[in-house]
Amino acid sequence: MLKRDTTIVILAAGKGSRMKSNFPKVLHKLGDKTILEYVINTAKSINPKKIILVDNFEKKIISSNIQEKSINYVIQKKQNGTGGAILTASKKFLDDEYIIVLYGDMPFISAESVKKLIKYKKKSKITLLTSYLDNPNGYGRVLRKNKKIISIIEEKNANFYEKKIKEVYSGTFIANAKNLKKWLKKINDKNIQKELYATDIVHIAYLEGANIKSVKTIKTKEILGINNKLQLSILEEILQKEKIKKLLINGITLKNPYNFTLRGNLKHGKNVEIESGVVLEGNIFLGDNIKIGTGCIIKNSFINDNTHIKEYTILDNVQIGKNCIIGPFAHLRPKTILSDEVEIGNFVEIKDSNIKKSSKIKHLSYIGNAEIGARVNIGAGSITCNYDGKNKFKTTIGDNVFIGSNTQLVAPIKITNNTTIAAGTTLTKNINIPCLVYNKKIQKCKINWTRSNKNKKSTD
Ligand code: UD1
Ligand code: CA
Repeated sequence: MLKRDTTIVILAAGKGSRMKSNFPKVLHKLGDKTILEYVINTAKSINPKKIILVDNFEKKIISSNIQEKSINYVIQKKQNGTGGAILTASKKFLDDEYIIVLYGDMPFISAESVKKLIKYKKKSKITLLTSYLDNPNGYGRVLRKNKKIISIIEEKNANFYEKKIKEVYSGTFIANAKNLKKWLKKINDKNIQKELYATDIVHIAYLEGANIKSVKTIKTKEILGINNKLQLSILEEILQKEKIKKLLINGITLKNPYNFTLRGNLKHGKNVEIESGVVLEGNIFLGDNIKIGTGCIIKNSFINDNTHIKEYTILDNVQIGKNCIIGPFAHLRPKTILSDEVEIGNFVEIKDSNIKKSSKIKHLSYIGNAEIGARVNIGAGSITCNYDGKNKFKTTIGDNVFIGSNTQLVAPIKITNNTTIAAGTTLTKNINIPCLVYNKKIQKCKINWTRSNKNKKSTD
């Protein structure tokens, strides 16, 4: 059990200028979460006494995006470096507590590695979390003399030999608050970037004769930070590869694992087959014997056994029953619920509608705010006219209704069971007794009429 004498500080106030974006760096998305959320989740899972998040004064956007009651926010008015950020947080430190600093741009840092660090809190005045990278470019290097750590040198200030060092610093350390506050007072901005480097406390501690220890991250990837879009894409690739590996081991067939994206959580049954170019987002459930065709995008949806989602279909917050066939090119929007054996075909858009067993809408339709019974057939090009420019209205269709092609159902409207509606009908009144419904349209014919050849450019 962790003694609750430890405060975690998360640095998230940096300019993020290397991202070349006016959106805060740590709020960029990695998988289904922001970079910062990974770090916050790690911090929370350690259950520290408190978490202090160093936020950006200019934008304050971090506080408003991440609504976490368990977090204490401090605002770093001047973005003058990581040392400045810890100095800002230090106002909230109590002398007898231990401080762990996490950088908000290191999403893969694990609770296990941080716990390893905590074990050293009394073994030395400061313990650093480090790792070895084949390509240490961009990271602070750990300088040692007779194996003992003497300082951290930033890439920009390192000489040729120092740049060859592969032992890199994560920025994460544990130290007693009283000592830390003392060291922070001594840092200055006499470096190439004219910033207050948090890493300078290591040399300050060394000059004091402090014992400095290091702990290696459990996995190398934990040390990877995100400073630019290239690094963001490298971490995204690592994340995707891990997820894909798990899915394949769990028995999902991915026809092209290198062209498949999962941003979120997927629960699935047996015999699930996913084609190339599929994107799954949020919480997804796929039952047994599910096939997902090329190019489908599925968000927060539940799909029951034996259903086939054909190519280029988009499903967003929907529930689909057993033995359904959906697509190709269908678009099912939020609050669409399909019972078993429903068939939805090409260029059909459905939202906020409930469709009962064995009903079919196979071509070119728009269905919104509708209750559709069982064994209903909706012909090609038929639509619910659910919107008058201000309000949405409901369409209710009973069981076993046949709706001919190109029908307009002007809502609010109710159609009773077993009704047949002729092709091309515009329905404006409720049908309460089963019947054949049609509009009288007169078909006329002009005899001896020919198409004019005027302005005709081409003969083929
Ligand atoms: C930092 C370390 C480097 C380490 C690397 C690990 C320093 C001086 N260097 O470099 O030794 O190897 O991380 O990834 O610390 N931040 C603030 N306020 C600021 C500046 C930064 O809160 O004024 C925050 C950023 O939002 C970011 C974190 O501190 O989350 C790290 O800052 P960054 O500029 O990315 O440091 P690096 O150059 O990567
Ligand atoms: Ca960084």
